[in-house]
Amino acid sequence: MDKFIIRGGNPLVGTVRISGAKNSALPCMAAAILTEEEVTLENIPQVRDIATERRLLASMGAAVELHESVTPEDAPSSATGEGASLKHTTISCRSLSDPVARYEIVKTMRASSLVLGPLMARSGVARVAMPGGCAIGGRPIDLHIKGLEKMGAVILQEHGYLEARVDSGVGRLRGAHIVFDRITVTGTEDLLMAAVLAEGETLLENCAREPEVVDLAQLLIAMGARIEGAGTSSMRVHGVSSLHGARYRINPDRIEAGTFLIAGAITGGDLIVANCNVDHLGAVIAKLRESGVRVDVLGPGAVRVRAAERLRAADISTEEYPGFPTDMQAQYMALATQAEGVSLVRENIFENRFMHVQELVRMGANIKVDGNAATVRGPARLSSAAVMCSDLRASASLVLAALVADGESVIDRVYHMDRGYERFEEKLRSVGAQIQRLGDVFAPRPENPEPADQPA
Ligand code: EPU
Repeated sequence: MDKFIIRGGNPLVGTVRISGAKNSALPCMAAAILTEEEVTLENIPQVRDIATERRLLASMGAAVELHESVTPEDAPSSATGEGASLKHTTISCRSLSDPVARYEIVKTMRASSLVLGPLMARSGVARVAMPGGCAIGGRPIDLHIKGLEKMGAVILQEHGYLEARVDSGVGRLRGAHIVFDRITVTGTEDLLMAAVLAEGETLLENCAREPEVVDLAQLLIAMGARIEGAGTSSMRVHGVSSLHGARYRINPDRIEAGTFLIAGAITGGDLIVANCNVDHLGAVIAKLRESGVRVDVLGPGAVRVRAAERLRAADISTEEYPGFPTDMQAQYMALATQAEGVSLVRENIFENRFMHVQELVRMGANIKVDGNAATVRGPARLSSAAVMCSDLRASASLVLAALVADGESVIDRVYHMDRGYERFEEKLRSVGAQIQRLGDVFAPRPENPEPADQPA
């Protein structure tokens, strides 16, 4: 298993370019199931979860191809690291010979449950393995199931699989009025994909407003879907009988951008985070400013972050978008260890998302957890240690801590990192970090063994 060796102490200086959003790319790839025509997605990040999704679609009979970058926006600047490739993906689901999401793939990536809605919409039947446990919490998919049932699906659970079919002679889902009991990102996406081909109108309420939902809605609209209200908590969908192919460019990854903003701030550097979407970073930028970090918005796609004269403690409470993202909580906690005073970190989305705390404490952080709240007292002198990644964002937190720790840290199980950050260590190195990977260099080959129990 790969490891990172990181020598802390270097301020990060220069420019990094942000890749496409993993959590947009995943539902957008699943949306290709909804048409027999070709869907082309640009700015797909080259990360392990995307490789897993390609494998999933291919296992169902889809043709999935990767292409070298051709658009000028994809041309790597010196700061992105060399070798930006596999930048767009074409997916053709002309024939879906096997509408089954097998456990062997689903167990490695929870987002696999995103194929349930589109499979039901396209074929009226689906067989999808239940995802099982997860490092960051229980993460049920009951709200996906409940919504599909309202649209006329009959879903049984047998032998670890959801066996779903449409309960009507015409084999087509029916529009319905669905109010989500709680806000769910992939649940909103799954039901949106089910609704676009359903008969009649669907009203989805208490929807997730995340930019990734908007990305998916925009792709679906480009494919001929009729959707109103994307990005608000209420979406109205007028079902159409078929969708066509489309070409769509995925938005930049706001979590990768936020992670680099913290990398600049924690190392006391001067970093430009380019090719991002500043509109999606509001809560993170506001919190960095509250902590005393100098943040200048250079334009709609670039932010400069500079060392704080003095990092001050600030509380965060994770919320659905546009609140402070749970996917930035672990990284923020690394920064809070360096701030003067007491920061309270409250995690409201997942029940078990503090797995990084014990590893940060091993590096010298002063953090106490009580239920869903963590109290961070700083500034703490972090010292290098051998630490272990438990999930994707926890890994990022440990890397950030290692960048300011004394000496050389060894970060184990970086396959978690590879699931969602494209060429992370190359990008860090290009702005002055001392980071090396030991072990097999990650390449998203389908034959790569996938570690089980993954959180995305
Ligand atoms: N929930 C239910 N029932 C459901 C669905 C969700 O109770 O049917 C609960 C969950 O257990 C959780 C809360 O609702 O407590 C919110 O979960 P949500 O469904 O919004 O999470 P998700 O859609 O499974 C996506 C991202 C996560 C991100 C969360 C929250 C993808 C592929 N994954 O997960 O990303 O943390 O939204 O923003 O979009 C990551 O990238 O590291 C990652 C974990």
